[in-house]
Amino acid sequence: MMELNKIDHEIQRILNVTRLSTLDEMKNDFTVEEKSGRKDLVTAIDKSNEKMLVSVIRQLDPEARILGEEGFGDQIDDMHGHVWFVDPIDGTMNFVMQKNRFAIMIALYVDGKPQLGYILDVMQNILYHGGPEMGVYARSAGMVDRRIKRPDNVSLDNSLIGISGPLLINDDYNMKKIAQTSRGPRMYGSAGLEFASVIKGELSGYVSYLKPWDFAAGNVLANELGLAVKTIDGAPLDMLSSNVVLVATEQASEEVIKLAN
Ligand code: IPD
Ligand code: CA
Ligand code: CA
Repeated sequence: MMELNKIDHEIQRILNVTRLSTLDEMKNDFTVEEKSGRKDLVTAIDKSNEKMLVSVIRQLDPEARILGEEGFGDQIDDMHGHVWFVDPIDGTMNFVMQKNRFAIMIALYVDGKPQLGYILDVMQNILYHGGPEMGVYARSAGMVDRRIKRPDNVSLDNSLIGISGPLLINDDYNMKKIAQTSRGPRMYGSAGLEFASVIKGELSGYVSYLKPWDFAAGNVLANELGLAVKTIDGAPLDMLSSNVVLVATEQASEEVIKLAN
């Protein structure tokens, strides 16, 4: 097994390669398929990105197991040893409809503990990355890493909150009341970019029904910055199941959980 900083270096390199190939493939027509329906899409680029990322991770960390959204990784039933999470395009609907506001995400957990997290905003070319042994950084194109500090512990009534469309439309968990209590709800369509906004302190929180690859990377970075990441009931996340996930400042987290339950 390579040292963590060598792995980190290689993952940053392959993310950049994947970004460039995504930009290249986007110039031509690409296949778009419906998964469960017209609001759940997958493209040929999601699949080619995941194949490339999975094959590089296998070379870097041969003993590890990989959970990839599009199924090119492994079947995983426990968090033993090295477990990688890959979301080859997060915000596929934005990718298809806007060609903007989507991310590529990777995370590494060791024996269930967060180790490395990466959220790459492809069109802005900003990489959010880090982990418990290194801190959390954002790097824009051609710039050096800028360390991200722990966001201020802002309250819900004094901040914007990210809420996914379906939760707000259906008023699940009192989301309408939660949105009204805040200064306003925001809805970006990429869990990765919404986690990044909480990490930067632009949103006091973000809540959405998410799968493991949607929240694995953001969870690493948010944990390191002292943000609360829980289910909407206030329980710890199950890394191998779908969860209604809330990432927020301590203050906003308490308020949202109280209003939601
Ligand atoms: C989706 C996006 C979206 C969130 C969905 C996710 P995908 O990821 O992050 O913002 O609301 O729950 O599934 O499918 O585009 O990778
Ligand atoms: Ca995806
Ligand atoms: Ca996703």
